[in-house]
Order: sequence, then structure tokens, then C-alpha cells
Amino acid sequence: MFGKEIIEYSPFQDEDKGTFGIKGTGENGEEVGHIVLTLNGETARSLSVLVSPGYWNKGIGTTLLQEAEALALARGATEIFVPEVANEKAAEFLKKRGYSVGETAYKRL
Ligand SMILES: CC(C)(COP(=O)(O)OP(=O)(O)OC[C@H]1O[C@@H](n2cnc3c(N)ncnc32)[C@H](O)[C@@H]1OP(=O)(O)O)[C@@H](O)C(=O)NCCC(=O)NCCS
Repeated sequence: MFGKEIIEYSPFQDEDKGTFGIKGTGENGEEVGHIVLTLNGETARSLSVLVSPGYWNKGIGTTLLQEAEALALARGATEIFVPEVANEKAAEFLKKRGYSVGETAYKRL
């Protein structure tokens, strides 16, 4: 039931917007999720964490988050914020992955 899809995870960078992140692509080339980050000094911010509803609960969000944390760390970040925690599921998702969740979510890298 789970894990049948083969998802390709690829880093991207948008020089104009000053953003970077990871994109998840499905077998047919469709985007199934992404995470978009900015980095100011040693502080990374995740502007968007999104997995398409049909692909939830398959570990894609976890992989995107882990890959994004590794990217941010490699670029010199020491901490990461998720400034807008969308809802209770997102809050639980982040808490279970080591974030302190209040009005924003925070993790030391
Ligand atoms: C929040 C969100 C990113 C999570 O994405 P996701 O791909 O469903 O996340 P995961 O599959 O990695 O993890 C979700 C759950 O699936 C379970 N799961 C992960 N891999 C699994 C697998 N291979 N088999 C079965 N279950 C699995 C996990 O146990 C996890 O549950 P838990 O939090 O109780 O541990 C997604 O629901 C989403 O895009 N929501 C809408 C936008 C949003 O809220 N964004 C977050 C803003 S902060």
C-alpha cells in the first residue's frame, strides 16, 4: 500500500527570489511535494512545506524535511524555523521531527 511510488528528490535554487529547497517528483514527472527555504546568516526559514494530498502518509514530507535540513546545514545554517505552522497535523508532524512548536516551529540543527 505504501512506498510503491518512486519519488525523485532534487534540490533547486532560485537566485532571483533568494530561495532554495527540494522538489519531489513522481514517476510521471508530476510534482508531488516541495520545501522552499531562505537563509539569512545562520538562520534558515522554511517558507513552504507541501505534499500533494494524494501522496500524504508515505514518508515524503519526512524525506523533504530531512533533505532540506541537510541542505541548510551544508550552507552554514545552525537553526531552522517554520514560521507558519498551517494546522494541527502540521504541528504534530513537526513536533515528532524534533521541532519546538509554538506560534512558529523551531529546531537547532
Ligand atoms: C504536513 C505534511 C507536509 C506532511 O506530509 P506527509 O508526506 O504526509 O508526511 P509523512 O508521510 O512523512 O509523515 C506523515 C505521517 O505518515 C506516516 N508515515 C511516514 N512514512 C510512512 C510509511 N512509509 N508508511 C506508512 N506511514 C508512514 C508517519 O508516521 C507520519 O505520521 P506521524 O507524524 O504520526 O509520525 C502534509 O500533510 C501537507 O503538505 N499538508 C498540507 C500543508 C501543510 O500543512 N504544510 C505544513 C506547513 S508547516
